[in-house]
Amino acid sequence: MKTLVVYSTKHGATGSCARKIAAVLGAEAFDLGNGKKPPDLSLFDSVVIGTAIYMGKGMPAALHFCEANLAALAEKRLGLFVCGLRETDAEKELAAAFPAPLAQRARVKSFLGGSIDYPSLGLREKLVTRAIMGKTESFSTITGTRIKDFAEKVRAA
Ligand SMILES: Cc1cc2nc3c(=O)[nH]c(=O)nc-3n(C[C@H](O)[C@H](O)[C@H](O)COP(=O)(O)O)c2cc1C
Repeated sequence: MKTLVVYSTKHGATGSCARKIAAVLGAEAFDLGNGKKPPDLSLFDSVVIGTAIYMGKGMPAALHFCEANLAALAEKRLGLFVCGLRETDAEKELAAAFPAPLAQRARVKSFLGGSIDYPSLGLREKLVTRAIMGKTESFSTITGTRIKDFAEKVRAA
């Protein structure tokens, strides 16, 4: 089974997860924000799509990719993941990040946790992080186990 992993990240955490998932699956990881044309989906049986969550929403590049390829993606074994820090809103954020037909069809959906690389944030992002999360330093809730569990579920799906 040939798998493609595509992702959209702002500060790198989602990309890091996507590359680790791809490594477990022996797949290619493609950054939807790199300005290049994504690989031809007809070459893959299985597609994993991951996006970071900001202010309750997935990255526009991930949503655009889903909407532009809705018909082709509906034919694939689908795995969806989001990276975020609002664990209590996991279900809501997963539902908001992907078009409903894909979210309903996905065989595996997961909220993998999130990371803050504090020095890389812009001033406004630092203010939001401090106000909402009470943090002024880097931290992460993403673990190797969460990533591996998701990848293994995709493999078994
Ligand atoms: C300004 C800002 C807003 C955020 N908003 C949300 C949010 O609404 N929900 C959530 O679950 N996580 C939120 N996060 C946490 C990010 O989703 C988390 O840091 C994620 O790992 C970022 O992924 P990236 O490094 O791939 O961009 C926010 C982080 C920042 C800095």
